[in-house]
Amino acid sequence: MSENLFLPDTNSRTEKYTALIPQIEALISTESDLIANLANVAAALKEAMGFFWVGFYLVKHDELVLGPFQGPIACTRIKKGKGVCGTAWAEAKTIIVEDVDEFPGHIACSSNSKSEIVLPVIKNGTVKLILDIDSDQLADFNEEDQAHLERLTKIIEDRL
Ligand code: SME
Repeated sequence: MSENLFLPDTNSRTEKYTALIPQIEALISTESDLIANLANVAAALKEAMGFFWVGFYLVKHDELVLGPFQGPIACTRIKKGKGVCGTAWAEAKTIIVEDVDEFPGHIACSSNSKSEIVLPVIKNGTVKLILDIDSDQLADFNEEDQAHLERLTKIIEDRL
């Protein structure tokens, strides 16, 4: 396994995703342990994309429990339907929040977080885990991020 990510010298987020996602796929293809893989995915996304916070919440019984992440410490448990993560779980769909202060029930783990994208990883019709990415900029995520990151969550799904 390569120890380094090869990243294009560009400000284009699309070019970064395009270079990064195949490398993440290769990185996790030879390891069967879920936590090890999620840890490397979080690290790769943080390093390559420079997001404020990148991490996973795992569905455990009736709540989400914090999994591997990169960034400031975060809340450890989220109930179904609560916050952006709990809503993405309950609705089994990606949610983009341009301004977290405008999202009813948003759970503020850090006051520096301004916008957010949350994607469920679904296996056999059931949400198994959540990818949560926070930015310290307002409206930092759009449909393009969603398309690229949904390719990534599909790759993770295939490893479950
Ligand atoms: N803001 C999230 C909670 C998780 S932290 O952002 C890491 C939410 O409202 O679900």
